[in-house]
Amino acid sequence: MAAPARTPDVLVTSRPLDEYCALFDLTRARLAALPGPLLDCPGGAAGLAAEARELGCRVVAADPAYALPPPVVAAHALAARSSMAAAMAERPYLYPPPGRRPGSYLRSWDRARRLFTADSAAHPQRYVAALLPRLPFADDTFALTLSGYLLFAYPELFGPERQLAALVELVRVTSPEGEVRVQPLHDGYGRHCRHLDALRYALGERRIASEVHRFPRPGDGRTRQVLVLRAADHRARGLRA
Ligand SMILES: C[S@@+](CC[C@H](N)C(=O)[O-])C[C@H]1O[C@@H](n2cnc3c(N)ncnc32)[C@H](O)[C@@H]1O
Repeated sequence: MAAPARTPDVLVTSRPLDEYCALFDLTRARLAALPGPLLDCPGGAAGLAAEARELGCRVVAADPAYALPPPVVAAHALAARSSMAAAMAERPYLYPPPGRRPGSYLRSWDRARRLFTADSAAHPQRYVAALLPRLPFADDTFALTLSGYLLFAYPELFGPERQLAALVELVRVTSPEGEVRVQPLHDGYGRHCRHLDALRYALGERRIASEVHRFPRPGDGRTRQVLVLRAADHRARGLRA
């Protein structure tokens, strides 16, 4: 299917914690055992921060949308739900995840959106307005950093240089003992990033080790991929691209 020529609006999606775990190959137990805070960038209108806190995991979400009041973000998320409903009809090979019925999948987004709206109003300090490739966090702040559905999903917004700068920035704010996980490695039409090897080479030049972690997708066992990044030299800071 041909991709649209215009620059897309970035959807403010509202995934629940269990969908995050399935997409990043994580478990609730692993999140509960993290030795430090988790960064979700972009956070969108996800339920992750609220749900993971229940496990004892401290989540900071970062997203430019948080410059807006929570009800306005929730309205954007409601619009994203409509876009997802349309995408499921147009691209059933991509959405919803295997084994999920469209209705129940969208209801899981509704629950996550409600959790986000309540949590971001009650705990605004957990939701930081920020725009990659620059983040307002000190070096080594997070034990785990997740970045979903932005850097590879919107190639019109993140070309190779901006992708590299954003990935380096995500590594900078992550503890050398921790890691950065990024997915998907394809755009909204399922097209794989063609310059991934060049990107990984450029990361390597900045002493950032990268690995494409492959794992069976829950539901149908097809392979999913997550890019995992770690600062290779624990003493090598000054990572800004
Ligand atoms: C498709 S959502 C992804 C949210 C979440 N990570 C998920 O997987 O559902 C994309 C988000 O990226 C945010 N965004 C757009 N440009 C950004 C930038 N330069 N830096 C960080 N976030 C950005 C949007 O506001 C939107 O909430």
